[in-house]
Order: sequence, then C-alpha cells, then structure tokens
Amino acid sequence: MVQNVIFDTDPGQDDAVAILTALASRELAVLGIVTVAGNIPLAATTRNALKLVELAGRTDVGVYAGADRPLSRTLVTAEHVHGESGLDGPELPAPSTPPRAQHGVDFLIETVRAHPEGTIRIMALGPLTNVALAIAKAPDIAARLKDIVLMGGAYFEVGNITPTAEFNIYVDPEAARIVFASGAKITVLPLDVTHRMISTPARIDAFAALSNRAGEAVAAMLRFSEAFDRRKYGWDGAPLHDPCVTAYVLAPEIFEGRSVNVEIETGSSLTRGMTVADYWGVTDRPKNAIWIRSGDADAFFSLLADRIGRLP
Ligand code: BDR
Ligand code: CA
Repeated sequence: MVQNVIFDTDPGQDDAVAILTALASRELAVLGIVTVAGNIPLAATTRNALKLVELAGRTDVGVYAGADRPLSRTLVTAEHVHGESGLDGPELPAPSTPPRAQHGVDFLIETVRAHPEGTIRIMALGPLTNVALAIAKAPDIAARLKDIVLMGGAYFEVGNITPTAEFNIYVDPEAARIVFASGAKITVLPLDVTHRMISTPARIDAFAALSNRAGEAVAAMLRFSEAFDRRKYGWDGAPLHDPCVTAYVLAPEIFEGRSVNVEIETGSSLTRGMTVADYWGVTDRPKNAIWIRSGDADAFFSLLADRIGRLP
C-alpha cells in the first residue's frame, strides 16, 4: 500500500539523500516538502529543496517554506559541515520552479486535516519548529497523524553539536518539547543508530557507479559533507543521519529499538536540547516514542543505492 508522507527538512546533504530516496520509491507518495531554518537559513533550505525535486524530475511535488527561526532562540546553523549553500559538492542548476505560496505550517495542517485519520506520516529531518507550530495551532492533527518519524536526539552517543545535544533538537528544544508532549506517535532515529551508518569510500563509490545524474550528485554531496565528520570522529567516513528516516519508513525490519519515555531539556545551558530517554525504564514516565538504537548498515546502504539508481 502506498504511504502518504510529508517531509519537514533543512537540506543539507543528508536531508537530500533522504528526500531523493523517497522520491524514487513507489511505496511512498510525497505530498509535499516543508522547509525549516536549520543547517542553513530558510531561504537556502528552500532553494535546496527546489533543486532536489528538479534533480529527481519531480517538480510535481510542492516545496513550502516554513519557519525562518526557532520558537524562541537565536538560529544556530551548520555551514561548517554542509558548506555555504548547505548542499555543497555537486553542481546543481538553479531551480526553475518557485516555492508554493502557502506557508509550510499551514500546508502541514491543511494536508493532515484533508486526509483520513491515521494516513499521513511526517518525516522530520531538521529542527522541529514547523511541526511544533502546526501542533500548537491545530492540536487535533497530533492524533490525526499516522506518526512522526524524526531524526534527532541521542542517548548512548550523547551529543554532536554540544557534548550532550544532537543538532536538530539543540537548535529548537522548545519545539521538540512540544512535539514529544503532543501525544502523536513518534519514532526517533537518534545518533545511536545514525552513527552506525557510515558512508565509507566504498559506499560512496557505489552511488557514483550508478552512473545516473542523481547517483553522481549523491556521491558528490557525501564526499563534501563527510570531510568534516571524518576529521571530527576519525572514522572511515561520516554518519549518514537523515536517510535513516526514509529507510525506516520503507524497511522498518532493518532497525531495532523499543518504546521509551523521552523528555527534552530546555532549562540548563550545559545540557540544552538533551534528549533524556528512559531507555532502561527507571522512571514511571509514560512512553511517548519508539527509540531506535541499531540498524543493519549494509542493508541500509543497499536500499539507498537501489532507490537512488531508479532516478534520472
Ligand atoms: C542532523 O543535523 C543536521 O546537520 C543533519 O542534516 C541531521 O539532520 C544530525 O545531527
Ligand atoms: Ca537535516
């Protein structure tokens, strides 16, 4: 059965691979791509999303600009990882289509309300500002969604932007807190699993060897974005974060996790944005998310290459 999905994203090379994989997958109907400020400011994430639908030959999929800053914090960006454009690496033509006129948050609300209950999945790949705004404006959508599958947070791996916080949650912790408290069904792909999905040279070469336009672009993106993490971690490549969300939606059997309680730290400056996951059940706080801890990296990269190979 075809699954309806909406991306909420800040592309970002790893967001790009997540989106391209979905656009290539017949099991998924991508109803729209909503952009948020995160890796880079909103104008650039929106421009990058437009470039991606063009690269995939899918300009039928609308791109909707959402929030240009976190709910109450100053925006923190990550050009040091993703480059000035946010999508450094391949030479992609300027987009020939504009974003849709509707605000991304309104698009989210309207689309969820226009579809039968339990049929829409939000795939969130950036700070959760838009999702939180949509839930705050239209609380009924939390229960109407099938679920929210998000890349963010960390428990065993702790932090990547601070010693205790993962980037997406750190940028807008108040938004994350609203989302985790909303009652929506949530699955989290944290650093605990994404740090197992390493884009080694051989795995990047496999994208280039597809010899289509998208495969070459993905290889060029990953060669650029892995340089920073390769130095930072000293690994044989970089963790490939956001495509874990698409892979989970397409093939949940390659991942493992459990239901836990997750709370977001917003008070402390030292642990701002920490995802306090009760993995061992030492509290009686209600379980509000499925926390994915591990996944099969070879199956993950094979799935991505197979799908990217179907694109122009
Ligand atoms: C997350 O932060 C961003 O830099 C990536 O796109 C990913 O969504 C990883 O911490
Ligand atoms: Ca992202």
